[in-house]
Amino acid sequence: MDIKDKVAKAINKQINAELYSSYLYLAMAAFLEAKNYLGFGHWMRVQSNEENNHAMKFFNYLLERGGEVVLSDIKASDTKWKTPLDVFKAVYEHELKVTGMINELLKIARQEEDTATESMLKWFIDEQVEEEANAKQIVEKLKLIKDSPNGLFMLDHELGERK
Ligand code: FEO
Repeated sequence: MDIKDKVAKAINKQINAELYSSYLYLAMAAFLEAKNYLGFGHWMRVQSNEENNHAMKFFNYLLERGGEVVLSDIKASDTKWKTPLDVFKAVYEHELKVTGMINELLKIARQEEDTATESMLKWFIDEQVEEEANAKQIVEKLKLIKDSPNGLFMLDHELGERK
């Protein structure tokens, strides 16, 4: 059965949100690398790619269900961070927002009795738990490190190992 318009519209909105996430993390990578935090920048580049993959999961799903993919404008991100802590706090807050959007999408799928979309969203619900936890862990580490150059150097190295 082809997907209902209301669900398709919500999925298109989510595609845009995931692409925005990718764009935001890319802006963060540029900021961090310009400050010579190459490991943090690498982590952010990997994250930006992951967000693009999330967008493509929704994109492919919508096409598979006979829905129309509508790609709209991706807004530019705010870039008023000053430190790596600012950046990772913003990542965490952004991920909380995305979790809220996924929950909203789930609500719509349930209202529309779209069990296939509900099932597809399960992967994203689990993924959000991981994304929130990862960002939060880095925020906590950065809070502990404060302005210690040694600590920042070590964490930058650690995040640079992300596959
Ligand atoms: Fe696609 Fe980070 O949520």
